[in-house]
Amino acid sequence: MSVVVRNPKPDELTTVWEVLCGAFGEGPRERFRRQIWEDSTFAIEQIRIAEVDGKIVSHVWVAERPVFYRGQAVLPMGGIGGVGTLPDYRGQGLATLLLEDAIAYMERKEHAISMLFTDINPFYARLGWANFPEWRFQLEVQRLPDKSQVPEGYFVRPCEIDKDLPDLQAIYRKHVEKLQLSLCHARPNNFWFDGHPQYLGLKPSHVVVKGQGTRDEGKAVGYVCASATERGIRLSEFAYDPEHPQGLIALAVALASEAKAEGKEGVIEGITPFAHPLPQILAELTDANLWHQVSEHMMLRVNNLLQCLEIAQTLMEKTLTEVGAKNLHGSFRFSLSKPEQSAVIEVQSGKVKVRDNDAAEVTIPVTPREFCLLFFGAVSVWQWRHLLVRKGVVLNETQTALLSLLFPNHPTAYWGGDHF
Ligand SMILES: CC(C)(COP(=O)(O)OP(=O)(O)OC[C@H]1O[C@@H](n2cnc3c(N)ncnc32)[C@H](O)[C@@H]1OP(=O)(O)O)[C@@H](O)C(=O)NCCC(=O)NCCS
Repeated sequence: MSVVVRNPKPDELTTVWEVLCGAFGEGPRERFRRQIWEDSTFAIEQIRIAEVDGKIVSHVWVAERPVFYRGQAVLPMGGIGGVGTLPDYRGQGLATLLLEDAIAYMERKEHAISMLFTDINPFYARLGWANFPEWRFQLEVQRLPDKSQVPEGYFVRPCEIDKDLPDLQAIYRKHVEKLQLSLCHARPNNFWFDGHPQYLGLKPSHVVVKGQGTRDEGKAVGYVCASATERGIRLSEFAYDPEHPQGLIALAVALASEAKAEGKEGVIEGITPFAHPLPQILAELTDANLWHQVSEHMMLRVNNLLQCLEIAQTLMEKTLTEVGAKNLHGSFRFSLSKPEQSAVIEVQSGKVKVRDNDAAEVTIPVTPREFCLLFFGAVSVWQWRHLLVRKGVVLNETQTALLSLLFPNHPTAYWGGDHF
């Protein structure tokens, strides 16, 4: 058997599409068509294929998806998608070979991290990806809020994308920044027009405006991407201008009545950063019980530990300055088990240095999951440190307080339309 790993040629993209449908079935055919031909971030170099005896039989895509870190910094990220091998060729190591090749590609592209979504987590864990929690919410409207609860001057109207887009893009960025969100796609402007993300949910449907008197013309201050389901509606994305929290009330009133329209049960569900105000307000206004569900279909890989810390360094220093922590000092060496690498953070007089040598007060051995839980703020350091105790690492109170400032608990979300 002769195996060749390579990029496809432009005239082979139709064959690549057929291989994807052969591996995954016909269900996602349209999605795969759009990912190849209607995604402006797509480039042929991102696709690696395995050819066996002259036939393309296995495929991996490394999507270009830079993501925000604490709302301000950007981490270059490689999104692994379309991992598939034709049924007759499985179990021969082809997908593993392509994933190893994708890792080398991400190193060349300097992707600090990688993300993927899967049901077969152990298959990817061998190669360094680790489960990371994603939050979803669900509620069932019990009572329709009265229209009089809508704050004066706020209106919800259907989105007119050509007119609204620049405002929505600005709201998206402001929302990410002010909530200090991590993992949200740092989208190029063109991406909003692409057929692929639109198919997956990046389709703003409702816009909240702050108008004058009774007029709904005015400044856009929020939006949602909502779609109808059998039992109500699903939100695949939402954002608001945090200077206009009242906009969320207007939005919640509109969404509640839409979820109940045409005799539906009033179920509203979707992805959310944990404890985001929109689901909370929706539940409060509709007397609903708010359910959260955490799934671990998302996996993250720390391709380059040093690069991750370097990108976070400015924000770490900013936090130290904001709380006036000029007197705290300490140094931590993170030793990551997979892929094996280490890096040191040193804090002195409010300055943060990131380096790749070994000298530090304390060495913290971490699995990729432990590191991602800390770095992406999923857990407070006061709790996180107890994950280390079984390894004999005991962080004292001062070290814990300092790490809490460097790695504050903060929300994450990866919206529906950004998938790959
Ligand atoms: C998953 C898939 C890509 C593996 O391709 P492959 O070329 O056979 O992969 P490899 O030969 O490199 O590795 C096979 C390993 O994957 C494991 N694997 C395959 N499917 C699996 C599953 N559903 N759950 C857990 N492990 C699985 C096999 O057990 C095997 O492990 P082993 O080497 O220890 O025996 C292939 O089965 C496929 O195309 N499936 C349908 C599409 C799909 O679900 N893709 C994954 C999307 S996240």
